[in-house]
Amino acid sequence: MVLKQKTIGKMREWARVAGELQGEDLKQKIYDNKLLDACGELKGKRILDYGAGPGIIAGRALQAGADINVYDISPEMLRIAAERIGAERAYDTLDRIPTSSFDIVTCNLVLCIVPDDEVVLIIRNIKNLLAATGTAYVGFCNPRIFDVPESLIDFRHSSGQGYEDNHKYMKTKKEGGYQIEETHRPIGWYSGVFHAVGVQISDIIFTPEYEAVSGRIISDFVIFKLKKEGQA
Ligand SMILES: C[S@@+](CC[C@H](N)C(=O)[O-])C[C@H]1O[C@@H](n2cnc3c(N)ncnc32)[C@H](O)[C@@H]1O
Repeated sequence: MVLKQKTIGKMREWARVAGELQGEDLKQKIYDNKLLDACGELKGKRILDYGAGPGIIAGRALQAGADINVYDISPEMLRIAAERIGAERAYDTLDRIPTSSFDIVTCNLVLCIVPDDEVVLIIRNIKNLLAATGTAYVGFCNPRIFDVPESLIDFRHSSGQGYEDNHKYMKTKKEGGYQIEETHRPIGWYSGVFHAVGVQISDIIFTPEYEAVSGRIISDFVIFKLKKEGQA
């Protein structure tokens, strides 16, 4: 396959592949469908998509009747999302977003591309943005397939490190053909952050399993369903 010379290694660089993200049909089928199913009834729900990218998921939530809002660190991504769902639904700074007010906060494929301290910050922000009875859905690439060189959607270039070690590795996206630098962290590391910040895991959802080229049964993504601690 022909690789485009685009390597995305920093969290503000994603706008360079905004077009590719919008064409990721397989990712949308595998991940977005599972996420939106997990969220349940969207009609009338006040939702924030944190790190919304070009707003594909937000557009679907709007169509389903949600009161959807987006935030993204990239002004260019936010502009594309705003064109899709309306500028009044796009927050360009965190301090403009009302706290304790969202029924649902989603954060999709963001944590695996940001540094450790930013993961903690994002989870803390999500906790503060959720209404008292709100639910967060935080999803990223399934850490358990860190040693699978080829999945339906990616080629992984092994760093040679083990599952328990936080480490960076390169990945080539089959859809779009661009390269990204991701960070692998074991599921236990994320669980530790959630606990430290004061959110509890109410479910761990994996996207559908299938047989990879190697013959191993895998699922591409994991989605954590989170509540503020102390909630039923
Ligand atoms: C892989 S894209 C995912 C986009 C979208 N959530 C989706 O699932 O299609 C990652 C997005 O996270 C945004 N991002 C990266 N770091 C961020 C941060 N610290 N806060 C908010 N957004 C961030 C990027 O600008 C980019 O739009």
